[in-house]
Amino acid sequence: MGFKEQIDVTRLPEHIAIIMDGNGRWAKNQGKFRHFGHESGVLSVKDIVEGCADIGIKYLTVYAFSTENWNRPIEEVNALMELLISTINQETATLNKNNIRLNAIGDISSLPQKCIDDLKSAMENTAKNTRCTLTLALSYSAKWEIIEAAKKLAQKVKDQEINIDEINESTFSAQLTTTDIPDPELMIRTSGEHRVSNFLLWQMAYTELYFTDTLWPDFRREDLFEAIVDYQKRERRFGKISEQLN
Ligand code: IPE
Ligand code: IPE
Ligand code: MG
Repeated sequence: MGFKEQIDVTRLPEHIAIIMDGNGRWAKNQGKFRHFGHESGVLSVKDIVEGCADIGIKYLTVYAFSTENWNRPIEEVNALMELLISTINQETATLNKNNIRLNAIGDISSLPQKCIDDLKSAMENTAKNTRCTLTLALSYSAKWEIIEAAKKLAQKVKDQEINIDEINESTFSAQLTTTDIPDPELMIRTSGEHRVSNFLLWQMAYTELYFTDTLWPDFRREDLFEAIVDYQKRERRFGKISEQLN
């Protein structure tokens, strides 16, 4: 029996977050340039997005470019931006065909202007789609996001829109870039690295973490289904004890 058949569709995670890692090593293993790994990684994104939509995952968030990734060699940064632009433009029609909405989080204003424009039009183009929301984390870091939220709340207090006592989990969450998206129940990281690299730190407070040695360009929907089956075997206690859960 394949992993898909083992999934209990009544207990699916609503939101899956993925740190797509290992493109560079995948290319290097084959004696190719890192860029080849990034290009191949796009095929994995396509397969995973469709795999998610196929089984009924409502939100998929993928870490595509971190704030810290700006510190990579300029040629790699440029190649990644070009790849982002060409992928967005090539895939919008397929997103519409599959009824998938495109969304983005991160410091979007720091991206090249062409990227910003094409991303914006792809998001507008797919805004009415309802089957699944694909969020690209671009120039994203959780610490950046949390600081932005703190600044917005400080401004609201200064403008006397809210009192300090009204700052709580819910008003804080509302200032984050993920405000309309539920917290991920499952986070997958490929390539054997066991860290979260500044991704969704607030939102992952109670997320189940899944690590696989598979490099991102080799990751396909069957691997995703395997991660979901693993997730469904876990007991999520949220601080309680086993006996308190039904
Ligand atoms: C993930 O693959 C893609 C991005 C971070 C943009 P990497 O480029 O980090 O690949 P490795 O980790 O060096 O193998
Ligand atoms: C995390 O991968 C960021 C993305 C996948 C976009 P990195 O390859 O940048 O992470 P570190 O530096 O190994 O932690
Ligand atoms: Mg990496």
